[in-house]
Amino acid sequence: MQKKWWKEAVMYQVYPRSFKDSNGDGIGDLPGILEKVDHLVELGIDIVWLGPIYDSPNDDNGYDIRDYYKIHSEFGTMEDFDLLLKTLHFRGIKLIMDLVVNHTSDEHEWFMEARKSKDNPYRDYYHWTDEPNNYISYFGGSAWEQTEETGSYYLHLFTKKQPDLNWSNPKVRKEVYEIMKFWLDKGVDGFRMDVISLIAKPEVFKNSPSTDLKFLIENHYANGPGIHEYLQEMYREVLQFYDVMTVGEGPGITKAHALNYVSSDRNELNMIFQLDLMFMDFGPMGKFDYRPFTFQDFKRCWMEWDMAMKDNGWNNIFLDNHDFPRMVSRFGNDSLFRIESAKLLAMLLLTFRGTPCIYQGSEMGMTNVAFSSLDDYDDVEIHNFKREHIPGDRISEAEFLKIVHRQARDNARTPVQWDDSENAGFTEGEPWIKVNPNYKEVNLDTSREIFDFYKRLISFRKSYTDLVYADLEVYDVEHPQIFFYRRGIYFTILNMSDKVILKYRHGIDSGIVLMSTHNRKGFPQNNIDLNPWEGILIKN
Ligand code: GLC
Ligand code: CA
Repeated sequence: MQKKWWKEAVMYQVYPRSFKDSNGDGIGDLPGILEKVDHLVELGIDIVWLGPIYDSPNDDNGYDIRDYYKIHSEFGTMEDFDLLLKTLHFRGIKLIMDLVVNHTSDEHEWFMEARKSKDNPYRDYYHWTDEPNNYISYFGGSAWEQTEETGSYYLHLFTKKQPDLNWSNPKVRKEVYEIMKFWLDKGVDGFRMDVISLIAKPEVFKNSPSTDLKFLIENHYANGPGIHEYLQEMYREVLQFYDVMTVGEGPGITKAHALNYVSSDRNELNMIFQLDLMFMDFGPMGKFDYRPFTFQDFKRCWMEWDMAMKDNGWNNIFLDNHDFPRMVSRFGNDSLFRIESAKLLAMLLLTFRGTPCIYQGSEMGMTNVAFSSLDDYDDVEIHNFKREHIPGDRISEAEFLKIVHRQARDNARTPVQWDDSENAGFTEGEPWIKVNPNYKEVNLDTSREIFDFYKRLISFRKSYTDLVYADLEVYDVEHPQIFFYRRGIYFTILNMSDKVILKYRHGIDSGIVLMSTHNRKGFPQNNIDLNPWEGILIKN
């Protein structure tokens, strides 16, 4: 296995709007992140993935970019950015940017030009048709929107304020490479590439036999013709000249062809965020079409993705981010065993193979939120769904609210709960989205145990290279509650359930407990009784 700094690193995702507000306008900002650099240093992470901070009308919270060369005024200035980058570097932390180039904002000057006329020089920067097919957007409704100027329709896989760029146009690709160079020349350490698997579109937009979102993504939107040529060109034109890392968000990338994106000999991406785990409870209509999954499904997904990477690829390991519910609510137990299960999930993240990515707030065990009204939610995805389906025959508003409590992206977007002061120490003003009302009980001060647990796991991962590079071997695959695996001389036993497991025979003949969610010490005797959500890391 080839050694690389980005395999050994631990990533941490900052969602800027919700991290820390420095000036009382209720919106997290760059100086706010600067205030919390000590926190990141203490935690021990190596790389910050900074969510989009570019100029944007915020239809999709910054994932709709109006100007790739400008910092959004609500986040601060370019000087603030430069200072943050310098400070992070000085403290030994790298920074990667979110590169959102499947689409721009409809307020980007390219699109404002393109829509004017059919012969506008920017027309071919986007996809146009006079006969829209049956594609639907991620956030509901047709993926085609008509413009008044010419009567034609443009493609938008996300909101109608996010027109898709036409990557088959070499000028578009060149613009993207220029943007990348601009940020790399400032010294950023790489990119998280937003929905990068979707950039290549079919030559002709034929109707899809099904308009279920999952089907559309897998069969029409992802892995389009030319995708690998584009990524290889991006490497040749830009990435090969910098020692940086890339992680592509990969909806629709399956285990069968993931290596085509990340195999070390292909010079495309270093790793991807695979979404099988995150989509595991999605029905054909997407996340609000909830389907329960089993622990076996969960385990299988982790094992199979590890296998899929073989020796040439590399995974990124994550359990949540700004697009999904909080991990302790989704995969743990956020009421009775919040602290225990938050620690256990940290153990899974940090002892598995792949570069771990911690989402802000996990280190204090933050949970999902359950606002009592849809009006308290901000996400365009929720409001589009509501407009389209309620009132209607499929679902009532009350039922929908329940699903929102479980599945909404805003679960992960409420402000970070730093302490128990007003607004959880996030802002002195009115936060852009309400703070989770549980902040008095759930905050960094009350969750020190979780924070310290992360800290120790991160330092172990850095000291013990087996935890980075050793192969994964899973035992007791069929066990309905236990995830038990080995990495070199380290064994991890996780009881991922609310049940006590009596007399579990792990068969490890000798060793010591390095860490445990329940402060177990010494030799882990065979026939061990495991507490609910107990996790143990053993050194053989
Ligand atoms: C990615 C982002 C998500 C955004 C979408 C469109 O999935 O993570 O937040 O809405 O792309 O840019
Ligand atoms: Ca602010």
